[in-house]
Amino acid sequence: MKDLFDRIIKDKGPLGKWASKAEGYYVFPKLEGPISNRMKFNGKEVITWSINDYLGLANHPDVIKVDGEAAMEYGMAYPMGARMMSGHTKFHEQLERECAAFVTKKAAYLVNFGYQGMVSAIDALVTKNDVIVYDMDSHACIVDGVRLHHGKRFTYKHNDIESLELNLERATKIAKETGGGILVISEGVFGMRGEQGKIKEIIALKKKFNFRVLIDDAHGFGTLGKNGRGTGFEQECQDGIDIYFATFAKSMAGIGAFFAGDKDVIQYLQYNMRSQMFAKSLPMPMVKGALKRLDMIRTMPELKEKLWKNVNALQSGLKENGFNIGNTNTCVTPVFLKGEVPEAMALVHDLRENHHIFCSIVIYPVIPKGLMILRLIPTATHTLQDVEETITAFKAMREKLDKGIYTRVGAAMVR
Ligand SMILES: Cc1ncc(COP(=O)(O)O)c(C=O)c1O
Repeated sequence: MKDLFDRIIKDKGPLGKWASKAEGYYVFPKLEGPISNRMKFNGKEVITWSINDYLGLANHPDVIKVDGEAAMEYGMAYPMGARMMSGHTKFHEQLERECAAFVTKKAAYLVNFGYQGMVSAIDALVTKNDVIVYDMDSHACIVDGVRLHHGKRFTYKHNDIESLELNLERATKIAKETGGGILVISEGVFGMRGEQGKIKEIIALKKKFNFRVLIDDAHGFGTLGKNGRGTGFEQECQDGIDIYFATFAKSMAGIGAFFAGDKDVIQYLQYNMRSQMFAKSLPMPMVKGALKRLDMIRTMPELKEKLWKNVNALQSGLKENGFNIGNTNTCVTPVFLKGEVPEAMALVHDLRENHHIFCSIVIYPVIPKGLMILRLIPTATHTLQDVEETITAFKAMREKLDKGIYTRVGAAMVR
């Protein structure tokens, strides 16, 4: 009989197999210094394009003050226990009320982490009689939540309403047989390629089919719609979203997340979401800090304006210079290039060491083999100078890529 760890030690997985070459540089890098448009990597200043601090709140002095004061007053432990048992405070409730009001829903429920919250919410919302229909390009938290489902599930082609309709027909047939309902899940903003989900068109299908909609708006919250109220506002269809989800890990520059919807549904989640029932509640500095951040998002529209000034400058600059940024219509800015893992390593090394640009690279298995995405996240802390320097660097990088220089360098790196 084999030892359980034999396989794990031999086969480290599609990313893990690169660990000895990549760790500390390409994966698990250490960005140092205050969170901002320019930070330190390996002792050198780099322009940072991989931090989801869209509105620049992470290091805002007013935010740091509130976080610090809350930590001084309550420590990092209070309140202890799960919300249901002993970990509940009036500030958790206040944050829920304010989140709900901001996204114009009746009620909201806080969760400790977006990923775990989404997995657990999906698990709570459906029984084996229900059918889930979800976008093929959904974030891992949706995919993993669906994995827990004991009933039928269908994916539809990414943002393809015809494909969704086809799958809703199949789902409807099954739900009629089982006596269950249908849950449709999409992202508000697809975080890898930056396309908005076609939320309005999804909701329009409610005229033809009977289903409920859950939207993961991790990247839309704070960045889209009036005052940053999210993708539902951007597309003027917020009312049709039955359950709205956003994390605090991006525009809110913190930790935590929330679900918002009608009172009955939110109360159901409060009493049935295992990730919250069996886990300690959010510590007070996160809660008080989130209240401050939400207030700033609500009252400081200039943060979102500055963000979009940078987004527009970066995206138009890249397009004018012939870069393929796909179909993004959000802040997420992907730059599509061709190459394999060795090229990706040489290219990223060159950008970081010689051009002082730090951005994330996405490769197989996250996207198909032979494709690379440099993923840039503009924030309100960036400057037009950052944009200019980045585009100049990218032009130099493309020349080397076209000449095959990274192919040769990369081959030597992985040897
Ligand atoms: C679309 C999407 N959903 C959920 C999450 C998970 O949120 P959290 O970091 O709060 O766990 C993320 C990213 O982190 C995300 O991009």
